[in-house]
Amino acid sequence: MGAVPWSAVRAELASAVEALDDAAFDRAFPVAVRVVSTTHWTPVAIARKAAEFLVRGPGTRVLDIGCGPGKFCVVGALSTPGKFTGVDRRARLCSVGRALVQRAGIPNVEFVHRDVLGMSFEGYDAFYLFNPFGENIGEAPPIDGSVELSAANYHLFAAHVARELARAPLGTRVATYFGACEEVPMGFSCVGSALTNELRFWEKTGVRTEFEV
Ligand SMILES: C[S@@+](CC[C@H](N)C(=O)[O-])C[C@H]1O[C@@H](n2cnc3c(N)ncnc32)[C@H](O)[C@@H]1O
Repeated sequence: MGAVPWSAVRAELASAVEALDDAAFDRAFPVAVRVVSTTHWTPVAIARKAAEFLVRGPGTRVLDIGCGPGKFCVVGALSTPGKFTGVDRRARLCSVGRALVQRAGIPNVEFVHRDVLGMSFEGYDAFYLFNPFGENIGEAPPIDGSVELSAANYHLFAAHVARELARAPLGTRVATYFGACEEVPMGFSCVGSALTNELRFWEKTGVRTEFEV
């Protein structure tokens, strides 16, 4: 049997995004990645709302900090004109994301395999975080056994993200889904929330508005 044409894969993903159908979207992932989707990957409805907030025009450069197999990035790329980069410290998940965007012929997404700890945020306009470091402190079960998890790591990673965001220009937007939002530094105001209220929208205004969690 020949390979499924990219246009068919893309059409199926686009229709799942349009219908907010997580089960249909997740069928594009290998089983091992699909079965942890409910716990670890952003639901389509949330990803669309977050991407719509973050992308302010064609080419807005969005970084998904801890992208997993790329569900947020792919939903964002299919529903906005933004350019999405996902970074993840798990090589296997980056490979799954790369294979998917290649199979579907989606040009405005790339995946970078690295620890965010070594990463500068210059070159990105907006940021998405689905509680990326929570598994270090038991807020979510481990995705797999491939990386070291520790409370010390949680604090290191969150502090690095906060430091990088503190250097970002006024007007920078961040969307967070779940988590205590320790990665969002002073100077960002919570300007809204959506759906479950666990999706929060932040903008750098120079003034911090506390969001009670
Ligand atoms: C809850 S998942 C979210 C996945 C994706 N953003 C989504 O919403 O569908 C968090 C991801 O962050 C990644 N992660 C955790 N710590 C990281 C780090 N220090 N650098 C890069 N990725 C990290 C994990 O491997 C995991 O895939």
